[in-house]
Amino acid sequence: MSASPASVRASAWAALERHARELAATRIAALFEDAPERARDMSASACGLYLDYSKQRMSARTRELLLALAEACALATWRERMFAGEAVNGTEDRAALHVALRWPPGQPMPGSTLARSAPQEVEQVLARIAAFCDAVRGARWTGFTGEPVRDVVNIGIGGSDLGPAMVCRALQAWSDGRLRCHFVSNVDSTDLASVLAACDPRSTLFIVASKTFSTEETLLNARSARAWLVAAAGGDEAAVQRHFVAVSSALERCAAFGIPAPNVFGFWDWVGGRYSLWSAIGLSIALFAGMDAFRALQRGAHAMDRHFLEAPAAMNLPVLLALIGVWNRSLLDCPTHAVLPYDHALALLPAYLQQLEMESNGKGVDRAGATLQRPAAPVLWGTLGNNGQHAFYQMMHQGLDSVPADIIVPAASQQPLPGHEDALVANALAQAEAFMRGRSLDEARASLAGSGLDGDALERAARHRVMPGNRASSVLLYRRLTPEVLGSLIALYEHKVFVQAVCWDINPFDQFGVELGKELAKSLRPLLEGRGEAGAHDASTRELVARVLALRAGQ
Ligand code: F6P
Repeated sequence: MSASPASVRASAWAALERHARELAATRIAALFEDAPERARDMSASACGLYLDYSKQRMSARTRELLLALAEACALATWRERMFAGEAVNGTEDRAALHVALRWPPGQPMPGSTLARSAPQEVEQVLARIAAFCDAVRGARWTGFTGEPVRDVVNIGIGGSDLGPAMVCRALQAWSDGRLRCHFVSNVDSTDLASVLAACDPRSTLFIVASKTFSTEETLLNARSARAWLVAAAGGDEAAVQRHFVAVSSALERCAAFGIPAPNVFGFWDWVGGRYSLWSAIGLSIALFAGMDAFRALQRGAHAMDRHFLEAPAAMNLPVLLALIGVWNRSLLDCPTHAVLPYDHALALLPAYLQQLEMESNGKGVDRAGATLQRPAAPVLWGTLGNNGQHAFYQMMHQGLDSVPADIIVPAASQQPLPGHEDALVANALAQAEAFMRGRSLDEARASLAGSGLDGDALERAARHRVMPGNRASSVLLYRRLTPEVLGSLIALYEHKVFVQAVCWDINPFDQFGVELGKELAKSLRPLLEGRGEAGAHDASTRELVARVLALRAGQ
């Protein structure tokens, strides 16, 4: 009798747990001594991206066992199901077909009717977006006084903000300067107000981006922006249609808001919010960097989709990146993971990945609803690597917690100046080396030779300079950040998250955890307006509401 899928998975996990115990005392440096080819053997490349994971706390045997885990978890079958447009989002009975958003329409897409028809539907919307971009960028789309558009304000939050904002920032060098692009997400009116202060209503175009068109923050910001515009147009409501477009899968709600159908760019319920920048949600990208750059971004993502589908698991970048993460999180118990881009253009990548990874895999139950045996998504954090060096790297080098990191390195800058590129790359590679190597007590003592210290004073000073090392990192290297490379990089992380979800047996495509806070906020709103019953809330919350009211009353 053959073993059940659950017991095959359990024994793959058990083998990894045994192996993790065996490897616990082995240092990464020793693994390099044992395997002279390690740097090459523990690397893979695709789509212009080179992944060096040789500075991870893992051996070739670890990789073998992790690949066995992926197989035991039926990764190939899950991947096929996702690309075929099957309802891999089981709790919401939906497909997760973001790969169709960048699938060339003339080429067959594997699988179901949905997967076959989706690229054509996508192309129709993209054609409308291209025409709209032409009109706006070519100054044929004008505002209520006949002024061409100068400022584009994307109003959205979560996936309707983080993706396009991150990409626009990354592709600044592709902007011809015709349009300025702003992103408003926070319900704190300081966000909207400061953007509006920099814009002229006669030449400002608002994109209301919301998949559901029911998100409170977005609708509130959109209403305030609309009031600002209508006031500037002397109360003429007709001005709205010259200045507001919407991107949504809820077309009736856009109409109810007063945005006419020709100004609405649709997408589908099979596009998750955090996977939506390739859809019409990317309208701000196409306006800012141009349609060619947007298409190139999609081509890069599609190249990674093909690689994910076709490359053997041991050479497959998303699979490797995912398994390394599973190893660090689930077997080595590292609770956090740092993303450290050394490319200035990727300043917003960590924030984008926080949603992608933590909203997807920050779950406590498996697909069947059973409590997970080990925690899934780590806390993902990070910022520009070079800046981080002068801030939190201290903790990464000497704190007692071990923080695995992705160090993202461009060989060449988007906007080079003499001397900067070498300084940047030297810093990035030095940090990866320092994380692994550390500094022993003997080395620390030696570094103090000539300092005049001796005895206890020397010993004490040396101890403060010791770095344990053996801290894991991977380097992701590419030549220069182009739209294609960026597209591949984003798709790499999207698929990484999917592979991890398969290993942890969770559904990465729902996000019920965000709902309770939204519901409670709704019931607190009346209390802040001095109406309603506070009884449903706890004593601390009631006290805080009372204090807010008192502060506002100037007491
Ligand atoms: O509250 C979480 C969330 O639903 C995200 O998943 C989503 O990206 C974001 O809110 C915005 O949602 P929408 O695009 O529907 O406004």
